[in-house]
Amino acid sequence: MFQKEVYVRRREALVKSMQAAGQKGLMIFMGNIAVPSQGTVEGNGYSFRQDSTWIYFFGIDEPHWAATIDIETGEAKVFADDVDIDDIIWMGPQPSVASQAAEVGVSKSAPYHDWEKEIAAAREKGRTIHFLPQLRYYNKMRVAEAAGRPLEEFSVSMTRAVAEIRLIKEACEIEELDKVSDSGFRMHSAGRDAVRPGAREMEICGLMAGIAHSEGWGLSFATILTQHGETLHNHAHNGIVEPGKLMVIDAGVESLTHYASDHTRTYPTSGKFTTKQREIYQIVYDCNEYAFSLTKPGISYRDVHIATVKKMLEGLKALGLVKGDVDEMSAKGIGGLFMPHGLGHNMGLDVHDMEDLGENFVGYEEGQVRAKQLGLGNLRMARPLRAGHVITDEPGIYFIPDLIAKFKKEGLGYDFVNYQALEGYYDFGGIRLEDDVLVTADGARRLGTKRLPIAPDDIESIL
Ligand code: GLY
Ligand code: MN
Repeated sequence: MFQKEVYVRRREALVKSMQAAGQKGLMIFMGNIAVPSQGTVEGNGYSFRQDSTWIYFFGIDEPHWAATIDIETGEAKVFADDVDIDDIIWMGPQPSVASQAAEVGVSKSAPYHDWEKEIAAAREKGRTIHFLPQLRYYNKMRVAEAAGRPLEEFSVSMTRAVAEIRLIKEACEIEELDKVSDSGFRMHSAGRDAVRPGAREMEICGLMAGIAHSEGWGLSFATILTQHGETLHNHAHNGIVEPGKLMVIDAGVESLTHYASDHTRTYPTSGKFTTKQREIYQIVYDCNEYAFSLTKPGISYRDVHIATVKKMLEGLKALGLVKGDVDEMSAKGIGGLFMPHGLGHNMGLDVHDMEDLGENFVGYEEGQVRAKQLGLGNLRMARPLRAGHVITDEPGIYFIPDLIAKFKKEGLGYDFVNYQALEGYYDFGGIRLEDDVLVTADGARRLGTKRLPIAPDDIESIL
């Protein structure tokens, strides 16, 4: 947890922003509850993961907390129950609700279920109730019921205000992100060193997860470790590493303070790239470097995505896999055939930061229209960049036989795509290379002390 002034300052900033938007009433904040895995929560629960917006404004990392903030007075009140003797028998003595609240600068507290009474009383007085889109089902049900309106009628002004504040990382957050990036470095290094023909994918995953758990809260998302990189999020780890393949490892650590890292590297399983693998790898590597070189305040990440995809198409054109004018093929969406995802996303307390609030609120400015095209339309972060944004830089090239067949069948890109040449790539797989990047006042820097080896020669020599 950070010092209490951090939470006080954040809540003040939110209240100020709501007041400036002419809003009044009460804002609801929901912590998560504990969830049973089998049997009961007490007997066998899932690892508790607190709600990220709750962590950001209230810090307390325990289940069954809720809070309100009065926009007119700025007063915050938390709702939670002190432990009783039954809890103490199983969990040991716990700090009181009041003392935990004091640690994050809140002086008013009441029993957990009083939050619903507080909302009911405010509604009776005709006050506006503001709530955010909710992620977990328990909170979805409780919030909609308490506020007396469907979840779809969440408070847009509160959602925008929260997103704007959380998008710009504070110094204390950047310190956490740097540290967890270093854990990601160690986790990825161990994974990479275990890649060799005959190794079990599960073993490599387990080794990596062990580091995530020994250095932090655990994994920041389910590890993607696959010799079928053309499947973007492949979570099956039951294979044996085969010679001559490409192994995509996309994985991250979540710190004890719940900040995420998210790196991807792709390795030739035999230790050396084939000519074909190296050619495609070089293009993805050049794209990763190029996107980073463009990243600075003022440019939109949408424009960085578009410029990077054009660079990728130039590389593919040099190999004869596409032909014609690169600007034209880019406008027609040919990039999406090879990279059907965006260049990157926001990162912070969530690996895809705040996407529970809605991708478009977080990744797009008010008025910025999201494209429909495959690839550009999948871009999760399109905003003009500002110092303090933390984003990923993760270009990739994939040869997805079903997608190629679909493009071909629908007559897409006949002027640009060399479908015959692509036939030689049906069993290629995919390559993705991802770094975590902080936008600074005059440019950008990668998070963490050291960068995972990425240049093709460096990859071969370290393998
Ligand atoms: N690292 C997984 C993703 O960004 O989707
Ligand atoms: Mn990512």
